Amino acid sequence: MQRILVTGGAGFIGCNFVHFIMEHTPLHVTVLDKLTYAGNLQSLSEVPSARFDFVKGDICDGPLVEALVSRADAVVHFAAESHNDNSLAEPRPFVDTNLVGTFTLIEAARKSGTRFHHVSTDEVYGDLELDDPRRFTEESVYRPTSPYSATKAGSDMLVRAWVRSFGLQATISNCSNNYGRFQHVEKFIPRQITNILDGARPRLYGSGSNVRDWIHVEDHSSAVLTILERGDIGETYLIGADGERSNREVVEMLLALTGHSPDAYDLVTDRPGHDLRYAIDSSKIRAELGWAPQYSDFEAGLRSTVEWYRGNEHWWRPQKKATESKYAGQGH
Ligand code: NAD
Ligand code: TYD
Repeated sequence: MQRILVTGGAGFIGCNFVHFIMEHTPLHVTVLDKLTYAGNLQSLSEVPSARFDFVKGDICDGPLVEALVSRADAVVHFAAESHNDNSLAEPRPFVDTNLVGTFTLIEAARKSGTRFHHVSTDEVYGDLELDDPRRFTEESVYRPTSPYSATKAGSDMLVRAWVRSFGLQATISNCSNNYGRFQHVEKFIPRQITNILDGARPRLYGSGSNVRDWIHVEDHSSAVLTILERGDIGETYLIGADGERSNREVVEMLLALTGHSPDAYDLVTDRPGHDLRYAIDSSKIRAELGWAPQYSDFEAGLRSTVEWYRGNEHWWRPQKKATESKYAGQGH
């Protein structure tokens, strides 16, 4: 394997993955990204140009996708519409990119026989009760609840069907909520950090008791590379780092890290259909592929994320106002 195609490489996880690949492998990377509101070329500005190409384009564009996929030894597919609140306000782009885009890519990969890794989410499994002792495993039943998770679930099913029906050389990973540098300010952690840096109060949906299972984005990158190198074709791997926290706990930690009173937040209108809790059992990837997360100290990870946003206002400032006016329109 020498050349990989990374879709969505100008987005949060994709760009972190590209940086990770540059640091840990000799691979050449081509990024295909449409540069939607969520894509930002500045996130890739420090990638060494000798091993990197950028192509602006849509994963639904069949001829472009075929040409790029046929020239790659492997495809790592991150491109997606990724935000639940947006999917509730306007579902159409989710169907186009997450379903039709994935279909376009796997058709190209099956024609050229290219290795394919599909990046997905634990949200395809729906949610768990707060006191449920179980966590999601590779055997859990698909029960998506939002347009975002339903289209991601559909894309997983397309990949599985292409493996079985056409012998697509594919693997799938379903990861829990990521945090770290270069995450769009619409998402929970960067929104609260940048609110605090702006002198505004963090905003918790509902009662703040919903639980997410946080993983540092570097750990997601190392897991995806591990699967690309050693995963078994046709297999699904769940990626998680035992990071369950309620949203309220996360906000209290952010307030403490920035020297504010732990109750200096506001409770706002809940998200319709808001999933209660996600929790990942990542025993399979740990036991079968020998992967383990390296960022086990969540508070230290949050602290360095706060510092990154403090030091990189030029990166997030242009997105902040439009994001907050969109939320104001949704009562959040
Ligand atoms: P993001 O929204 O930050 O980035 C998505 C990227 O895809 C952007 O650069 C955007 O321009 C690009 N894109 C969107 N539509 C496109 C199209 N039609 N053609 C080409 N490019 C297009 O998303 P993210 O948070 O980095 O998520 C990346 C992937 O990881 C997604 O598949 C998501 O479902 C999955 N995932 C995310 C999380 C998380 O916590 N963020 C957790 C698990 C899985
Ligand atoms: P989000 O980052 O949108 O990820 P996801 O919906 O994929 O889990 O939200 C994470 C959690 O934070 C989710 O329970 C919704 C909640 N949330 C807030 O409480 N306030 C906010 O301002 C945002 C954006 C999210």
